[in-house]
Amino acid sequence: MRFWALLLGIMTAIGLSVGIYFTQATPLYVATEPVLERGGNADRGRGIFFAGGCASCHATPGQSDPLKLGGGLELKSPYGSFFAPNISPDPDDGIGRWSTTDLVNAMQAGVSPQGEHYFPAFPYTTYAHAKVEDIRDLMAYLRTLEPVRGRAPAHTLKFPFSIRRAVGVWKALYFDRSPINPDPAQTDEWNRGRYLVEALGHCAECHSARDLLGGIESRYRYAGGPDVEGHGWVPNITQHKDGIGDFSKSDIVALLKTGELPEADSVSGAMMAVVRNMAKLSDDDLSAMAEFLKSLSARPSPPKPPK
Ligand code: HEC
Ligand code: HEC
Repeated sequence: MRFWALLLGIMTAIGLSVGIYFTQATPLYVATEPVLERGGNADRGRGIFFAGGCASCHATPGQSDPLKLGGGLELKSPYGSFFAPNISPDPDDGIGRWSTTDLVNAMQAGVSPQGEHYFPAFPYTTYAHAKVEDIRDLMAYLRTLEPVRGRAPAHTLKFPFSIRRAVGVWKALYFDRSPINPDPAQTDEWNRGRYLVEALGHCAECHSARDLLGGIESRYRYAGGPDVEGHGWVPNITQHKDGIGDFSKSDIVALLKTGELPEADSVSGAMMAVVRNMAKLSDDDLSAMAEFLKSLSARPSPPKPPK
C-alpha cells in the first residue's frame, strides 16, 4: 500500500514537472536588451507593418483608418473567439509602455511582458522568423501612430483551450522559431520574397490545412484548406493545377496590388484585407513575393468536405 502511494506520488511529481517544464513561457530576452532599445527607423518600420498585415487584425473595426489600432476585431475559430487587442501607443489600453524588447518577445517567442503565452491566433509562428532589426523599426513606427483608448473584449474560448499555459504544449509540438537564412543557391529576389512571405506576410497561416490541434499540416502548406473562421475555403497557392500554376509572375503582382484575378474577377473577403496591405509595398517587393510563390512545389489540395 505504502509502495503504491509512494509510486503514485513519484509519478505525479514527474508528471507535474514535465507539465510545468513544457507549459512555462520563456521569453527570448529576460531583461530589456539595450541594443534593441536604441534607434529604429520608423519609415522602414511602416513597410514591415504593411508586409506583416498588422492592421488586418488590430485596426478598430467599423472605421476605415488602418492606423487606428484600437483592436476589438473578433476572430472566430473552432476553439472559440479571439478579440485582437489594442496595440496603439495608448499607455493604459495599448502598448504605449512597452519596450522594443517586449515587442520582440511577443513576436518572436509568443510571450507577453507578464510572462504568459500568447495564443497563436496572433501569428507569431510566422513573425518569429523576422529579423530583430525589422521588429525594432516596426516598434519605431508603431510609436508614431495615434493612441486609441479602450480595450478589446476578453477572448471567449472553450475550455480547455482557454488555458494559456497549455499553449506551451502546443508550442513544443508546432512552434519553430529558427531564423530564415538566405539560400545562397537562390537569387536575392527569391530570398527577399521568401522573407516577405514566410516571416511577415503569413500567407501560409490562411492558405494551409490544419490538424485537430490547429497546427499547419506540412503536406498541405500553401495547398489551401477550410477557412478557420468556419465559412468557405482558402485556395491552393502552390504551382499545382488546383493552385496558381497558371498565374504568371505579373498576374501575382497585379493580384497583390489590386485584388484582380487574371480572369478579370477579383478576390474578396479576407484576401481583400491582405491586398489593402500589400498595395502599400513597392513593386520590387511584390515581384520578389511572386518569384518565391512561383517556386513553391505543386501540392494537391486537401480533400474538401462533401457539400
Ligand atoms: C491574424 C490576426 C493578427 C495579425 C495579422 C496580427 N495580430 Fe497581433 N494579436 C492577435 C491576437 C488574436 C492577439 C491576442 C493574443 C493573445 O491574447 O494571446 C494579438 C496580440 C498582439 C500583441 C500583444 C498585445 C498585448 O496587449 O499583450 C501585440 C503587441 C501584437 N499582437 C502585435 C502585432 C503586430 C505588430 C502585428 C503585425 C506584424 C500583428 N500583431 C499581427 C492577432 C493578430
Ligand atoms: C486572412 C487569410 C489570408 C491571408 C493571410 C492570405 N490570404 Fe490569400 N486568400 C485568402 C482567401 C480567403 C482567398 C480567396 C478569396 C476569394 O476567392 O475571393 C485568397 C486568395 C488568394 C489568391 C488567389 C488564388 C486563386 O486561385 O484565386 C492568391 C494568389 C493569394 N490569396 C495569395 C496570398 C498571398 C501571397 C498571401 C500572403 C501575402 C496571402 N494570400 C495571404 C485568404 C488569405
